[in-house]
Amino acid sequence: MMKNTPTTDNFPPGFIWGSATAAAQVEGAAWEDGKEDSVWDAFARIPGNVLNGDTPATAVDHYHRMPQDVALMKQLGLDSYRFSTSWARIRPGGRDVNPKGLEFYSRLVDELLEAGILPWLTLYHWDLPQGLEDAGGWANRDTAYRFAEYAQDVYAALGDRVRHWTTFNEPFCSSLLGYGSGVHAPGRQDPRAAVAAVHHQHLAHGMAVTELRELGAEQIGITLNLSNSIPRDPADPVDREAARLFDSLQNRIFLEPVLRGAYPEDSLKDLEPFGLHDLIRPGDMETIGAPIDFLGVNHYHDDLISGHPDTSGADGHGGGGARPKASPWVGAEHITFPSRGLPRTAMNWEVNPDGLRKLLVRLSQEYPELPPLYITENGAAYDDVVSGEGTVPDADRTRFILDHVQAVSAAIEQGADVRGYFVWSLLDNFEWSWGYEKRFGIIHVDYQTQVRTIKDSGLAYSRFAAAVRNGNSPAPEVPAAAPVG
Ligand code: FCB
Repeated sequence: MMKNTPTTDNFPPGFIWGSATAAAQVEGAAWEDGKEDSVWDAFARIPGNVLNGDTPATAVDHYHRMPQDVALMKQLGLDSYRFSTSWARIRPGGRDVNPKGLEFYSRLVDELLEAGILPWLTLYHWDLPQGLEDAGGWANRDTAYRFAEYAQDVYAALGDRVRHWTTFNEPFCSSLLGYGSGVHAPGRQDPRAAVAAVHHQHLAHGMAVTELRELGAEQIGITLNLSNSIPRDPADPVDREAARLFDSLQNRIFLEPVLRGAYPEDSLKDLEPFGLHDLIRPGDMETIGAPIDFLGVNHYHDDLISGHPDTSGADGHGGGGARPKASPWVGAEHITFPSRGLPRTAMNWEVNPDGLRKLLVRLSQEYPELPPLYITENGAAYDDVVSGEGTVPDADRTRFILDHVQAVSAAIEQGADVRGYFVWSLLDNFEWSWGYEKRFGIIHVDYQTQVRTIKDSGLAYSRFAAAVRNGNSPAPEVPAAAPVG
């Protein structure tokens, strides 16, 4: 049971309280100062790909409003800002370096440091230059080499000021969703290409880790979206096998190459029909397993898994966007996600904070080689209403965030080495194939005027972080949230 007032105990000294965004979701300025299309610009232009025909072209205009946004971070008292650099801005079309693109990030980093905020940089949050997609994208091994070059460019410009480097954000999404299910850019539905994308992104990660390490980067890691895989009926072999498959595709084919330099044996067998064996060249796995300094964990919901058709009438996994959902579960399309009858967010994702505790404890127990963990994304979409007084009383989101923070605290108590938490997201933004329909921000954005308003959840998060920082003074009461059915 979650307590109504979260405790501030358990968080180790120096615990980082941050917030996150991604370039394609906030920057806008899609073709300014030399930037060319990323796969998301091109994908969003095709009718039917993104809800309401929304595109990332303007987003929340962070490219132009960056100083104001950093001032808001400072007002919230954030320790760190997790952002991503846009490859398509830095190497338009995947070609030569665009100094103007790098300048934007250099100004951002200076602004952050000036405000006392730690920059936490991600090199790839899904926005491949369209020029590289045209040459085969992540299905083409060459893209991994191009990524390593891009990593070096960014390090050359920012390495003197940025200590924390994340190679990839959620490779699951940009490989299996982008190339398998097609609900994400580039929208391909080709299981062999999806598996190739997995392997080539791993390789790109490993090569970038090696390069960045040689160049002198202090803290290098990757962010994975991991989930518990709970068989609907643990006594049913069909459900147990489905849960194994889901765990293999969602978690272990990402965790184990990176942490152990090897694909799990069962995953290798599962993915043999899709060509995984043929993709692995001598030396690849050693490169991929290059030691990292931290693992970022993104978590929004966990899943009950079944191998039987879903009769609950309510897929507990939610998801979708504008396009009919095709399965990203290469070779495991029969997996279903029965509802547990839990409250849901506006994404239709089930709310289960204790799932985060379980996941963190499991990782700590099953992976002795695990580096320190950071929750690099956690948060929730709800339909916000701006009040007559100009406030955004988002009690559901406040409850969600503080309950999950509490789950992190419980995991730490049980031995998980978690050193930071980044709420998703700083600002309402372009939520991929959902367009602007789903709001995750702790700061509300009026998309017509670009006016920003700190939501109540932002204020509560800020107060909670301050309470921890100031020596565990009593944390604020959490407003009761109406259940979302
Ligand atoms: C994650 C993404 C992030 C955001 C949240 C809601 O999968 O990394 O960009 O869209 O989901």
